[in-house]
Amino acid sequence: MSAETYRHITARPASPIIGAYVEDVDVSSPCDPAIYEEIKQALWRHHVVFLRNQPMTPAAHKALASAFGPMVPHEIFPSLDGHKEISILEANRDRPPENDAWHTDVTFRETPVLASILHGLTIPPSGGDTLFASQAAAFDALSPPWQRMLSELEAEHDVVHAFGETNVLKDAGGEAKIAELRRTAPPKIHPMVIAHPITGRPGIFVNSVFTKRIIGLSKRESDAILTTLFDMIKTPEFQVRFTWEPNSIAIWDNFGTQHYAAADYWPADRRMHRITVGTAKPTAARLPQQLAAE
Ligand code: SIN
Repeated sequence: MSAETYRHITARPASPIIGAYVEDVDVSSPCDPAIYEEIKQALWRHHVVFLRNQPMTPAAHKALASAFGPMVPHEIFPSLDGHKEISILEANRDRPPENDAWHTDVTFRETPVLASILHGLTIPPSGGDTLFASQAAAFDALSPPWQRMLSELEAEHDVVHAFGETNVLKDAGGEAKIAELRRTAPPKIHPMVIAHPITGRPGIFVNSVFTKRIIGLSKRESDAILTTLFDMIKTPEFQVRFTWEPNSIAIWDNFGTQHYAAADYWPADRRMHRITVGTAKPTAARLPQQLAAE
């Protein structure tokens, strides 16, 4: 596919469905807001963008993130000293990887984040790729009867369901942290098919980490539908796979994608810094069939 030339950047699509490499730009120190604006345009178009050779300072990471809205510190992940918005995602021999499951970030919140910006610092000699999948492509591939059925359903998303048994939660306080989260971050209910907050494109909005159940269905019905959707996101045609180098950046459209961090590198070290940014309330998509009936 041919490269798209903007005023300040070039975006080279990785596939027609998802992903683009953003080139001819340096975001390693805070830069012109017009550059961030073009990166955002490429992101909404391609769901996830990748940049190479960006030895980004924490200040530059925060400047890039701020272009998307307010930065939102994470409830559980440790953060960089003096930068509570920058989460440290780290695995090593003593701390095996825990992000090897398909998910969208923080869907347990009332207003999840629009974008996540991940900076690769310590990259294993091989392995440790991140896979991204388009929730819009998965929705488009469903038959119209399933699209209609899902667009009338809502599902519950729960942080304790996701993090309950993880080492990162144990490090953050274990049972005491779980009690705090039950108080401060109770489960939230979101539509299962949302309109993307920027593009309006419909996409499925359930994931295998945070989504616990579908409201109003029996457990058997809920599990059957969720299992089908969790399997669909594993379809290679909806995906792009990014191989990290030190100082690579991935920025993903968190309402339009799910991601999976391959754990194949363990016990090697891997350290990433992540900022999650901008918030929006997931709202139900209105499908052309529904609009026609109104
Ligand atoms: C994440 O799950 O947000 C991080 C992905 C990664 O470490 O590649």
